[in-house]
Amino acid sequence: MARNAHERLIVALDFDRLAPAFQMASRLAGLAGMFKIGKQLFTAEGPRAVEKLARLGTGIFLDLKFHDIPNTVAGAVRAAAELPGVRLVNVHALGGREMMRAAAQAVAGRKNRPEVLGVTLLTSMDENALSKVGILGPPLKRALHLARLAKQAGLDGVVASPLEVAEIRRACGGKFLTVVPGIRPPASVKDDQSRVATPGDAIRAGADYLVVGRPITAAKDPRAAAKKILEEMSAALA
Ligand code: C5P
Repeated sequence: MARNAHERLIVALDFDRLAPAFQMASRLAGLAGMFKIGKQLFTAEGPRAVEKLARLGTGIFLDLKFHDIPNTVAGAVRAAAELPGVRLVNVHALGGREMMRAAAQAVAGRKNRPEVLGVTLLTSMDENALSKVGILGPPLKRALHLARLAKQAGLDGVVASPLEVAEIRRACGGKFLTVVPGIRPPASVKDDQSRVATPGDAIRAGADYLVVGRPITAAKDPRAAAKKILEEMSAALA
């Protein structure tokens, strides 16, 4: 499906309270294709955060990165699918094939079901950090392996680093969604991210969706920052 820049932009609302998250989402009206609710906001405010933000009419990516035994993850994915406006949910691919299969089956056949993604490797971890937890070798190779496993398990796509997205598309095909965090506009700070790319580069590499948090939400003028990113994405799409 062809998507324009605005549909492809997911803004991460990493706030610890619903009020500032809702305020930021309202400020960004019309500029984001989806809002991402992650562990910070969901742990603090629970499902009501989803219910309230969904009322803005913009889809929700519920980024809770489930990682548990298959039965528990399946139950969590089913519960996420019950919440209004949830279009994307995710699980850690490192949870294994059976766990991913259970997650996919939990919503299979459901009307308007959310798409289920596997997180390959966290974009905050570089090769050295990965080796310390026993994940050895180039991150690209490991991420590619996990993306293939996610596809075999029946997931709809993966969350992956912008540096891995082109290879994942080649290996898994254009219908397999790639959702890409670790986006940093040219000349901006990396924060705690490690394997990063600019919005233009991520789009040219074939990303379906870009997840952008602090470069927008911590900017002096979040609307202007989002517009600048959208311009760069549009130019890369053209
Ligand atoms: O502020 P920033 O743009 O770094 O936010 C990126 C968002 O994407 C965060 O909410 C983070 O939890 C999420 N994310 C990530 N790396 C992954 C998966 C999700 O950075 N592999």
